[in-house]
Amino acid sequence: MYNKVTVEDLDVKGRKVLVRCDFNVPLDENGNITDDTRIKGAMPTIEYLVNNGARVILCSHMGKPKGEPVPSLSLAPVAKSLSEKLGKDVVFAADDNVVGDNAKAAVAAMKDGDVVLLENTRYRKEETKNIEDFSKDLASLADLFVNDAFGTAHRAHCSNVGVTEFLKPAAAGYLIQKEIEFLGNAVNNPVRPLVAILGGSKVSSKISVIENLLKKVDKLIIGGGMAYTFFAAQGKTVGTSLLEEDYIDYAKKMLSEAGDKIVLPVDTVVAKEFANDAESKVVEGNIPDGWMGLDIGSKTIELFKDALKDAKTVVWNGPMGVFEMPNFAKGTNVIAQMLADLDATTIIGGGDSVAAVNQAGLADKMSHISTGGGASMEFLEGKDLPGIVALTDK
Ligand code: 3PG
Repeated sequence: MYNKVTVEDLDVKGRKVLVRCDFNVPLDENGNITDDTRIKGAMPTIEYLVNNGARVILCSHMGKPKGEPVPSLSLAPVAKSLSEKLGKDVVFAADDNVVGDNAKAAVAAMKDGDVVLLENTRYRKEETKNIEDFSKDLASLADLFVNDAFGTAHRAHCSNVGVTEFLKPAAAGYLIQKEIEFLGNAVNNPVRPLVAILGGSKVSSKISVIENLLKKVDKLIIGGGMAYTFFAAQGKTVGTSLLEEDYIDYAKKMLSEAGDKIVLPVDTVVAKEFANDAESKVVEGNIPDGWMGLDIGSKTIELFKDALKDAKTVVWNGPMGVFEMPNFAKGTNVIAQMLADLDATTIIGGGDSVAAVNQAGLADKMSHISTGGGASMEFLEGKDLPGIVALTDK
């Protein structure tokens, strides 16, 4: 596991601290932030630095502007949100080249406890290629570096990896520490039984997660669209359900290696077409021709409940059905409720399952909701995350 210098190991009073956050938040068509979870997640580190008299220079990417300024992907709305949350003015340095005249002047004018936010780091083409000039530009603004962008930790970019060559020590913020603690303990040092729940549409995108987790979990529950490839591996028909034919053999191999560790659905809510108001029914076993599986059935819900009842640690990644459609959201919602009611450490590993937990209004009832989509997946795959590896060892 990682043992990195943390923000509390730094002497920050009066120092300029560059902080990489993941402010890649969703915006509506008017540029309003529709989910500020990631901004809230960064607040403990920002508040600690402000309260300890640092001069805080924040940076982040937003979306994929591909190395040029895209006004709809400006971080200006984030500056506004940060000012409201901190109860103090956050100066937004609106430079198309990120480290330009505005940023330099804003930093030069800083007093202890002030906060400046730079423009979207991906406005610079060097950022995603981790090219030195931009890393040096960023480093030139500050004395110390803190990375708190867990959501970006699976990328090796200038603002999270390259910059650590030029600003040392490079420390982990509170959010990164919390993510490592929850996800790391869950997979490497869990209180058992450990149960993982995997869903979502594709087996192909979760192969490494399945392989890594099978070595560690006591049970692996599989639902959602990816279950139908496993149905086919069991010799069942799947109608017009999602099926990755190329992965049927792989699913067979997993089933034979995992013994009874893998728990699969036994009944399915099927529909005539992919629409909320489509004709639907529940079938056990085979899915008939012309029908597609869109949710787990009630016998499966009971089966999954039983598999979860004694769990002491649960990791959930991926919905059980098409939860965006109310008629096929039941399986996902019931799983969310089961986790909320369990006396266990419950970890929601990013992406759609986070949306599902939020939709069910149960976010407060989970032990940890990861702010990483791709990053939490790679963590569950057992991969090293470059954004964390690059930080200074203790
Ligand atoms: C995310 O939303 O998962 C992170 O912000 C990383 O974004 P990226 O996939 O565009 O690198």
